[in-house]
Amino acid sequence: MFNRPRGTRDIEPEEMARRRFVENGFRRVCQSFGFREISTPTFEHSELFLAKSGEGIIDEMYSFKDKGGRDLSLRPELTAPVMRFYANELKQRPKPLKLFYFGNCFRYERPQSGRYREFWQFGAEFIGPEGALANAELLSLGVNCLEEVGLKDYTLRVGNLKVLGSLLDKLAIVGEERSTMLRYIDKGEMDNLNTFLDSECPEEKASVIQLVTLKGGVSVISKARKLLNNIEKSTQALNDLEQTISYLAQYGIADIEVDLGIARGLDYYTGMVFEIDAHLLGSENQLCGGGEYSLAHLFGAQDIPTRGFAFGFDRVCLALEKGGVVFPAEKLDAYIIAVGEDIVPEALKLLREMRSAGINSDMDFMGRNVSKAMKYASSLNASCVVIIGKRDFENGVATVREMKSGDQQVLKLDKLIDFIKNQSESIKTGL
Ligand code: HAM
Repeated sequence: MFNRPRGTRDIEPEEMARRRFVENGFRRVCQSFGFREISTPTFEHSELFLAKSGEGIIDEMYSFKDKGGRDLSLRPELTAPVMRFYANELKQRPKPLKLFYFGNCFRYERPQSGRYREFWQFGAEFIGPEGALANAELLSLGVNCLEEVGLKDYTLRVGNLKVLGSLLDKLAIVGEERSTMLRYIDKGEMDNLNTFLDSECPEEKASVIQLVTLKGGVSVISKARKLLNNIEKSTQALNDLEQTISYLAQYGIADIEVDLGIARGLDYYTGMVFEIDAHLLGSENQLCGGGEYSLAHLFGAQDIPTRGFAFGFDRVCLALEKGGVVFPAEKLDAYIIAVGEDIVPEALKLLREMRSAGINSDMDFMGRNVSKAMKYASSLNASCVVIIGKRDFENGVATVREMKSGDQQVLKLDKLIDFIKNQSESIKTGL
């Protein structure tokens, strides 16, 4: 027996249908916002990720040498590949560029519920415009994706890295010291942060802790202004945050937590940052992360304002399931049972006509008797079963049984397709 590798999953048909429902919902919303889908390779030159992804991610990469001795890595995320693509081929296109993607990612993490070694990200990158208006458009895209698929129980937290950055600049906390601190903040390791501040900069400890624990409504912004005593860079960032929140109100989004302790685990973020959590997921509850970042220059293009996010697609699906969201059921419109081998060619012809007419249809391929074949059809959630025997066919009729009601009627073969079509349209599932 072969087991699948740790941290990977096999996805059964029912789950796959739920995932497709979510994916299609997200895709619809992205398109309605004018975002266009792209795709990049599953593996890249390792350097691409070493350039700016940050230590945490680099330690978790699946890296290998190919037969030509090249250092390659399975992608741990898609922002760096998208910006490589932009720098190589898309940079001449008219701005803004609104791009989205859906792809598998690989991180060598300790697997647990909601944390896998192969997982999927659905993400978007918004390239070109500067500032609060573009931030609000991107955040609204993320929120609308969740609303589209029926997820209600989530929290959107928004912050700005420049706020904490301005304080750390003022306190001259730089380099390695700063990265370690940001890592503790990102992982919520407050004990480690406290110990670190006690040993490295005890005098500044109180102000740092106060700032990174500032969370709540918009009033947090004025508290931060007071705490930071108008450090110039922080004023600009806080104004920007306030402006983003005010634009979001125009998008109908008011339920926002300001969180000045968001540090993000990747090293490329520069300004506004945000995270979306679903509390019913327990410890791995972050559904989405993103913000403004700077990468284009590393890949040989002129720097350009960029912002984006990625949903942990598997976590979104988990949150929907745990939240009891009812997914549209997978349905088969019709299942044909041919009674006797000699009628199989006619049954196949009917099957072909049904499929060409857009009816999702299947047929008994196991040579079962009618009652067993009907049981199987019901396990497939078939709306109706078409039973056709030699004599029926000679009389130009077939028996149609509606599975839900058990109603059964004999229909003329030339009326059959319209009948099933009308029925299946009235119960269209949206899948
Ligand atoms: P990230 O926060 O590293 O950001 O990942 C985005 C999301 O992927 C997380 O919020 C989480 O839901 C999901 N995720 C991460 N690791 C795992 C895992 N091991 N198993 C399941 N889900 C996971 C990025 O990757 C950035 N590229 C996002 C971005 C796009 N920023 C700007 N543009």
